[in-house]
Amino acid sequence: MPPPPGSDELVFFVNGRKVTERDIDPEVTLLTFLPAVGLTGTKSACGGGGCGACTVMLSRHDPASGKPRHVSIPACLVPLCSLHGAAITTVEGVGSIRTRVHPVQERIARSHGTQCGFCTPGMVMSLYTLLRNHPQPSEEQLADALAGNLCRCTGYRPILESGRTFCSDSHGCGQSGAGWCCLDRPGDDSSPPGSSGLQAHVCSELLPKAEFQPWDPSQEPIFPPELTRMAESPERRSLTFRGDRVTWVSPGGLRELLELKAQHPEAPLVLGNTALGPASKPHGRVHPLLISPARVPELSAVTESRDGLTIGAGCSLAQLQDVLAKSISELPEEKTQTLRALATALRKLAGQQVRNLASLGGHVMSRQSSSDLNPILAVGRAALHLLSEGGARLMPLDELFLAGTASAGLRPGEILESVHVPYSRKREFVSGFRQAQAPQNAMPHVSAGMRVLLAEGTNAIEDLSIAYGGLGATAVMAPRSCQQLLGKPWTEETLDEACRLVLGEVAIPGPAPGGRVEFRRTLLVSFLFRFYLQVLRELRRGRAPGAPSTLSDIWRYPRLPDQSLGALEDLPVTVPQGMQTYQRVDPQQPSQDPVGRPVMHLSGLKHATGEAVFCDDLPRVDRELSMALVTSTRPHARIVSVDPAEALRLPGVADVITAKDIPGTNGTEDDRLLAVDEVLCVGQVICAVVAETDEQAKRATERVRVTYEDLEPVVFSIQDAMRQNSFLCPEKKLEQGNVEEAFEKADRVIEGEVHVGGQEHFYMETQRVLVIPKAGDGELDIYASTQDPAHVQKTVSLTLNVPHNQVTCHVKRVGGGFGGKVGKPAALGAIAAVGAIKTGRAVRLVLDREDDMLITGGRHPLFGKYKVGFKDSGRIKALDIECYINGGCTLGDSELVTEFLILKLENAYKIRNLRFRGRACRTNLPSNTAFRGFGFPQGALVTEACITAVAAKCGLPPEKVREKNMYKTVDKTIYKQAFSPEPLRQCWAECLERADLPGRRARADAFNQQNPWRKRGVAAVPMKFSVGFAATSYHQAAALVHVYTDGSVLVAHGGSELGQGIHTKMLQVASRELRVPMSRLHTQETSTATVPNTVATAASIGADANGKAVQNACQTLLKRLEPIIKKNAEGTWEDWIEAAFEQRISLSATGYFRGYKAFMDWEKGEGEPFPYYVFGAACSEVEIDCLTGAHRKLRTDIVMDAGCSLNPALDVGQVEGAFLQGAGLYTSEELHYSPEGALLSRGPAEYKIPTAADVPEELNVTLLPSSQTQLTLYSSKGLGESGMFLGSSVFFAISDAVTAARRDRGLAEDCTIPREDPGTAKPWSIPIA
Ligand SMILES: Cc1cc2nc3c(=O)[nH]c(=O)nc-3n(C[C@H](O)[C@H](O)[C@H](O)COP(=O)(O)OP(=O)(O)OC[C@H]3O[C@@H](n4cnc5c(N)ncnc54)[C@H](O)[C@@H]3O)c2cc1C
Ligand code: FES
Ligand code: FES
Repeated sequence: MPPPPGSDELVFFVNGRKVTERDIDPEVTLLTFLPAVGLTGTKSACGGGGCGACTVMLSRHDPASGKPRHVSIPACLVPLCSLHGAAITTVEGVGSIRTRVHPVQERIARSHGTQCGFCTPGMVMSLYTLLRNHPQPSEEQLADALAGNLCRCTGYRPILESGRTFCSDSHGCGQSGAGWCCLDRPGDDSSPPGSSGLQAHVCSELLPKAEFQPWDPSQEPIFPPELTRMAESPERRSLTFRGDRVTWVSPGGLRELLELKAQHPEAPLVLGNTALGPASKPHGRVHPLLISPARVPELSAVTESRDGLTIGAGCSLAQLQDVLAKSISELPEEKTQTLRALATALRKLAGQQVRNLASLGGHVMSRQSSSDLNPILAVGRAALHLLSEGGARLMPLDELFLAGTASAGLRPGEILESVHVPYSRKREFVSGFRQAQAPQNAMPHVSAGMRVLLAEGTNAIEDLSIAYGGLGATAVMAPRSCQQLLGKPWTEETLDEACRLVLGEVAIPGPAPGGRVEFRRTLLVSFLFRFYLQVLRELRRGRAPGAPSTLSDIWRYPRLPDQSLGALEDLPVTVPQGMQTYQRVDPQQPSQDPVGRPVMHLSGLKHATGEAVFCDDLPRVDRELSMALVTSTRPHARIVSVDPAEALRLPGVADVITAKDIPGTNGTEDDRLLAVDEVLCVGQVICAVVAETDEQAKRATERVRVTYEDLEPVVFSIQDAMRQNSFLCPEKKLEQGNVEEAFEKADRVIEGEVHVGGQEHFYMETQRVLVIPKAGDGELDIYASTQDPAHVQKTVSLTLNVPHNQVTCHVKRVGGGFGGKVGKPAALGAIAAVGAIKTGRAVRLVLDREDDMLITGGRHPLFGKYKVGFKDSGRIKALDIECYINGGCTLGDSELVTEFLILKLENAYKIRNLRFRGRACRTNLPSNTAFRGFGFPQGALVTEACITAVAAKCGLPPEKVREKNMYKTVDKTIYKQAFSPEPLRQCWAECLERADLPGRRARADAFNQQNPWRKRGVAAVPMKFSVGFAATSYHQAAALVHVYTDGSVLVAHGGSELGQGIHTKMLQVASRELRVPMSRLHTQETSTATVPNTVATAASIGADANGKAVQNACQTLLKRLEPIIKKNAEGTWEDWIEAAFEQRISLSATGYFRGYKAFMDWEKGEGEPFPYYVFGAACSEVEIDCLTGAHRKLRTDIVMDAGCSLNPALDVGQVEGAFLQGAGLYTSEELHYSPEGALLSRGPAEYKIPTAADVPEELNVTLLPSSQTQLTLYSSKGLGESGMFLGSSVFFAISDAVTAARRDRGLAEDCTIPREDPGTAKPWSIPIA
């Protein structure tokens, strides 16, 4: 049956409005469609279902229940064609600042749950969908609803807290037991007990719950009646939608489906598109025909029979969860072992959005190696009902099926109709297991399913089945081992034998994707052990049917030692609790003065309603072109030729831009914008395609033929660079005292090494720029997502060879930067500008996540070596640290990062004899760049690791050694800058006291003695973080303040709004200075036309420096107004402004801040490179699962010295967000490079930034009492970066727990984690640190 010619009409609703499309291209997703109809609120941050930024609500009428079913879905994976008969609600449909902001939107904003706001629409939609289904959700449901949403800024705590305000079982801040819960107290003045003398004026409420609008579920929009009618009398004919390359057919019934499949056996069935979509993307693969069986009711049927459940292949995984829950609640427990194992596995499978979309059939048939469900289905004796025109047959879901590729074992034209899951039998036990890099939203490293049937009246194994996922190309079973174990008793001896047999049978190939062969082998055994214990527990509990019920029966089974209980279950995931305390403003401060108050982010509500405009939300301009980049696939090669001919012939392609098209300067000699003759890394930009659409441009990049001639040397790792003397700049060195002599006098000297991997910025908004050439004068407007608009302007002007004054860079807001948008946007802006000049048309360049991660570089990986001499008391006498960072292929920021690293290495410690050396290695990787903390988070880890090692050698708790060596009185740093460590010591003491470190450690020790399989660890780290650029010229800032005749004020300054709330803080400053309410003030954008020659918003100093400039401008204005105010003291602001205008007094003023002095003489090793320091301390407690390596963060206490915080809500947000980003760096974020130097981890599936489940279960943040200093703006301090390092407290707590585990087992405590030996097998991923 060939599909009919022409396309059918697609009917669906968006935000209550009917959409009827005739010419819909099956390749168009919902996410690409929405902006085209003006709905830009839904964001794209990964394009693969892994981040939740694109979450929308899909509703369909369910004829069975007569009600609509609402589910959250990732719009990026949803083909538009699949929406026939559906209603979509986007963030714009939930509420708007122009009409009514929905309570969900209001609460997330007012709880300070938005920073850059790029993730916020997705968060809102996940929460909104949750409330549509559960008006009073439980905390568990809340955690589940947000598990698929990533946020890189906030640290999640405030987002969860906003959601918690809707929950039925809210536990408030978690302090209610202590009698000072935020829920109990209306507002300020609550002070935690046990804090030493800091209680006065302490406030702990950041969110004004009392002011929240009530949530009334009855006010929500109704489901479109037209769609109800459509669902109740569905059309039975096939629907066809044709595009240029792909045709989509949705058969109206089973017969049509089978006919079509028979005629097109190669055409895939699309259900959720969560496997098909992401798999097609990297290879640009298209299936000319896609068959959607969504309208075939037989595929969604669920039937219960005497021996099991038969579940339609078309059921979504979320529906499967409901089906399982129902059966589990209704059936006797003996029958539900497999169902329970599936239900448990589903809870951790992806996020809710993906489960709502993905189908059981798609899951089973895509046979992904690390499937969570297939191993359980396989051991559970599941069978597949296959259908074709030729008839039906049953196929076991067994090892043969698992070992096959997607279509193996299927006859042409066959489809999966349903999966039959048999009920378990008496004395049968089934479990599923998984271990992933993150507790949520992560594919498992290894998954497993296990089933045992014990013979009646004995503990002998009658039947056994074991399956594993994630070990190789396919999931595997261990039939031979199982066979050999039949008849054996369920005892430890049998367990030992089982482990031996399984390890022998199940091979893990050395170069298998994912690597970590030893770890994965350990998991094989750990899961077996856990299964053994689980079965034993059930047997002894007598809960399992047929299990012993009398005392004498019970003794037939080995006793389950109490200590083993910890080995039974995975670590739990909970919604975090905690307290944020800060200093209340002086009661004398006028109520209208907002400085020091927790003012909501100015864009908070707009973030939450999707009305905040980001760079790519700007409407397409006339004749706009899209640009995509062609990047090198070789790490080091001569470019023999670049042949664009084939690309130029493709439809829509306007041009290919190469280095020859650059009218001015092509970057620098060693850092080209577009490669000329040579490429230095995989991912280096060679040329760019401009085309009518983004898709056309991307497709064309694959047709640009680049021929290379490989060159030597090729260097990837720091070790190789050291061996080959491959460096980017000379060594940086600081030294004091006599290190060698002190080593000789020390009681002991030890040496150690530390490797710190790189880190990807993973800002949610990828790099993007829009260049609009203006007709006539050769001017260009550039809209960029950048931390440094002046750098974009300068680079573009140099590239085009035009003066700066013809180029204007505008920045409205940036969806997260973290240092990654300081340098790169300039290069991308310049390349786009060349395209715009050459074609005379506007050019938009938006990197997708893969390209962004591939091209832009990130945090410098570090290799550090230390040698430390110390007394037995723990006092360090001499310390020599040598650090090497992996700078990548060009110098970029690497020399500066090396300098900062060396300057900051001493952290909080006064050590008389010190030597710090650092070098940046040149390698064939993308150039690494600025990243929050600028070297400090890597370097200080070496210092702290060294202190921890000293403590271990001295047999002292690490905190004692830290304290012993910490700065005590006013002193000078290694570079001779004087400072007072008073706030450092205060933070440290307060942190240890709040965390009750000694008590916590004692309790952890007691816990560890009881639990061989779970260990707790505790660690505290102090921090001295230097703020600012180490150069005076970088500390200047400017502002421009206009007052209009209606009294409204427009404030412009040089800082970019990155989510840190700089615009909010600037208006707080202007409000205080002008004594005008914030409601009368406004900022529009950051633009090089209004405030020129700005410096990057970075180094934690943006608000401080720009705030001083704003202050200066406002004071100038106020001075001008003074005579008028004096004359009419009773007048209003508007009166004075009117009078000033009448008297021809200028109502516009520039402000300037000349900057802090900062200099460093590297020859002498002396200087005052930093204007001031931020001090802090953090104490974390974790629990590790010794069987799987998983950890949970039990509690973190952070104390920070924020000076007089300009805005405690924003500052706490920076501290928490940075802390979690730091925890990510030190525990879960891992870059993987192929042996050829290509970045493999290019999206959220492979690169794990923290999720909401990574927030410590109790997170307390305290800002120290305000300390006064004349130096900074109102005595405030910049907190943008410092919190990052405090994440290392989690790392050291984990290492403390590991030490406890090793001690238990009599193993050496000072271990280093072995790296996979590249000599043993071709490595899957190479170490680069
Ligand atoms: C972000 C993300 C996170 C994930 N996390 C996890 C995880 O933690 N654990 C895990 O196990 N999985 C995970 N997955 C994988 C997910 O479970 C699968 O992608 C999903 O179940 C596939 O279902 P689908 O309906 O989307 O399949 P589709 O993409 O629609 O189809 C997949 C394949 O199955 C075939 N097919 C579908 N239905 C039939 C049928 N009835 N008969 C014959 N062939 C059929 C299609 O032809 C196609 O080749 C994740 C996926 C994503 C995108
Ligand atoms: S953009 Fe859709 S989930 Fe990330
Ligand atoms: S606020 Fe969540 S990513 Fe920025």
